[in-house]
Amino acid sequence: MNSQAIALPQDTSHHVRRFDLRRDLNPVADLVELCFADTLDADGRLYIDQMRQAARGGPLLDLAASGGRTDLPMNGFVWQEGEQVVGNLSLIPQSHQGQKLYLIANVAVHPSRRRRGIAAALTAAALQELQRRGQPATWLQVDAKNPAAIQLYAQIGFRERMRRTSWRLVWQPAPSKPATTATAGPRKSEDWAQQEAWLDANYPADLRWQLPLEARLLQPGWRGSLERALSGRQVQQWSARQGEQLLGSLAWQSSGLEADNLWLAAPTESEAAALPALIQLANKHLYSYRPLALNYPAGRAAEALQSCGFRATRTLIWMDYPWKEITFNGQ
Ligand SMILES: CC(C)(COP(=O)(O)OP(=O)(O)OC[C@H]1O[C@@H](n2cnc3c(N)ncnc32)[C@H](O)[C@@H]1OP(=O)(O)O)[C@@H](O)C(=O)NCCC(=O)NCCS
Repeated sequence: MNSQAIALPQDTSHHVRRFDLRRDLNPVADLVELCFADTLDADGRLYIDQMRQAARGGPLLDLAASGGRTDLPMNGFVWQEGEQVVGNLSLIPQSHQGQKLYLIANVAVHPSRRRRGIAAALTAAALQELQRRGQPATWLQVDAKNPAAIQLYAQIGFRERMRRTSWRLVWQPAPSKPATTATAGPRKSEDWAQQEAWLDANYPADLRWQLPLEARLLQPGWRGSLERALSGRQVQQWSARQGEQLLGSLAWQSSGLEADNLWLAAPTESEAAALPALIQLANKHLYSYRPLALNYPAGRAAEALQSCGFRATRTLIWMDYPWKEITFNGQ
């Protein structure tokens, strides 16, 4: 085994303590709002509002305190100086196919206290905690335009696993004629096997736990109808063809967030040809003009997406901690 010891910052114990749901929600909401002011989107603002709402007590706090399913930060570590919380790291448990995994999120240090090792100490505390919990898969996401954080995590030993771009489409009232010879129509049952294989390639298993993509909702036939009815999600799907050849399929899925989701199943060779036809048809069929979100591998189909009216909101680097290769503190 390739063992590499990690040096922990010394003398941090009197500042680092566990996040306390009953008293830290408000200060952490303030800190996250301050530190992410430049990049907060509507969902991020909603998240901060929920923290503040829960801090006032009531059902959200009761749900979180009783271990119920909520996105509120319930675990993690803060760095406290005097009465002030000046650093935070949230540990968000997730599960995927029976496996427990953790997302490190909301890593934030007050601007007046940066470059003193606070974020490194909080990350080290989180890794020690996760080591005690049996070294579950540990992930984080960092904006590709955030060199400080990328450097922080790389130095601790996190490694890049993938880059994903979030695209947004805000509908134009009059879509232009698609610049492609491909034709699009409703997704056919017989497209499913290929569509599913392309979905697996474009949305690999390692990221499914973080996305609301559930292939069972997209499957054809009575099974798919039943799954959709049970989930309460609406789905519409289209396929693009060149003659008889399938170029790609697009699924639209309703969501409770600011934007509905699109899942694009297409290989690199045909995604650019498929997209304009698919988007034009989607525009005809979607009666609501809610914004649409597409998560896609970074660097893929960028020109085609832009010419269909999408704009890239950000690219996230997904990093994980290589437990098997690194012995924490030499243990
Ligand atoms: C990123 C952030 C959390 C770092 O907090 P911090 O307490 O200042 O970081 P640390 O002092 O523990 O730095 C540890 C290492 O990270 C790297 N690092 C931290 N800030 C850096 C910067 N501005 N530029 C380059 N490298 C930086 C360095 O390698 C540093 O080690 P060094 O000081 O020995 O060179 C802080 O800048 C912040 O809150 N930023 C805004 C919110 C944010 O981007 N969070 C991360 C989301 S993924």
